[in-house]
Amino acid sequence: MRTLIRKNPKPSVLVTGGAGYIGSHAVLALKDSGWPVAVLDNLSAGFRSAVADDVPFYNGNVGDKDLLLRIFEEQMIGAIMHFAGSVVVPHSVANPLAYYHNNTVNAHILIETAARAGIPHFIFSSTAAVYGSPLVDRVSEETPCAPINPYGWSKLMTEQMLKDVSFAGEMNHCALRYFNVAGADPDGRAGQSTVGATHLIKVAIEAALGKRDSVAIFGTDYDTSDGSGVRDYIHVTDLAVAHVLALEALIEQPEQSLTMNCGYGRGFSVLEVLDAVDRVTNNKLVRIADDRRAGDPATLIADPTKIRETLNWRPQFDNLETIVRHALRWERKLCENC
Ligand code: UFG
Repeated sequence: MRTLIRKNPKPSVLVTGGAGYIGSHAVLALKDSGWPVAVLDNLSAGFRSAVADDVPFYNGNVGDKDLLLRIFEEQMIGAIMHFAGSVVVPHSVANPLAYYHNNTVNAHILIETAARAGIPHFIFSSTAAVYGSPLVDRVSEETPCAPINPYGWSKLMTEQMLKDVSFAGEMNHCALRYFNVAGADPDGRAGQSTVGATHLIKVAIEAALGKRDSVAIFGTDYDTSDGSGVRDYIHVTDLAVAHVLALEALIEQPEQSLTMNCGYGRGFSVLEVLDAVDRVTNNKLVRIADDRRAGDPATLIADPTKIRETLNWRPQFDNLETIVRHALRWERKLCENC
């Protein structure tokens, strides 16, 4: 099986969590670049409708070894992009073991099964949460990792497994540490459909469309320009394209593994984000000052030098209002389907 796969110039990519928000955009980016794709998703957070009918779809768990082996064989998988996982920082604080199970234990099963089957390339959806509350203005990959919540730890542990497995020569990998992902496919093919979303831009757009009464500002006394939390918001399509470039880099240089930040390198406060939503919607959100949220750092901004140099990544949508506009268009589409 593996010989066939290695000879194929464009092996099939298994996207776990491909029916979810970021995974579904990665599937689009892969298809747009001519990569054959298959999706594994248990639909706990994803939507079957997010995956096009021409993409082989498996409804199941990343921790199901037999299913993984069947997919590897049936789809002649030559690379994995692993998105399936739990992503809400405050939930991880409340339910740490659920996060370690879903994000770390299941990742172990996936990596082990992939390594045993000889899958040569693995791309991992990691997070800026591995840095915790960094003391620097912009976080580079050299900034020490010190997670301050179970979510960050659950991802960092998986990064470490991948490093060790790659060092042992069983595969090469790329861990992409996402900053705050938002927006939607510019052509309206995908977006964030998450029910009960907690992420700021999604929450604010829902409020702007009357699905919520107000937006809470979690913390107004941080040591930031206006007291609210500052994040580096990155358009989901730019992030998805980075995954395709990372895959190509892994295939070109099979001896090399990579860990890279995925952000634009500039931060916006919660208030600045809400102002942008107001401008785009020509409305005024109702804002309510609230307590700090458990597990939240004050500021998290990427130094994206490495990914720009290594992958020649050139973001197309580095503009907060564009991100908000695309997210708004998707949310309106969801309303039509309500
Ligand atoms: N916030 C509010 N009100 C809300 C929601 C969020 O004030 O209703 C604030 C948060 O306190 C924070 C900022 O908006 O200051 C962003 O919060 P999000 O919940 O949108 O995102 P997080 O920063 O908590 O986490 C996200 C991803 C993680 C990733 C992290 C990296 O969920 O996977 O970004 O910065 F690790």
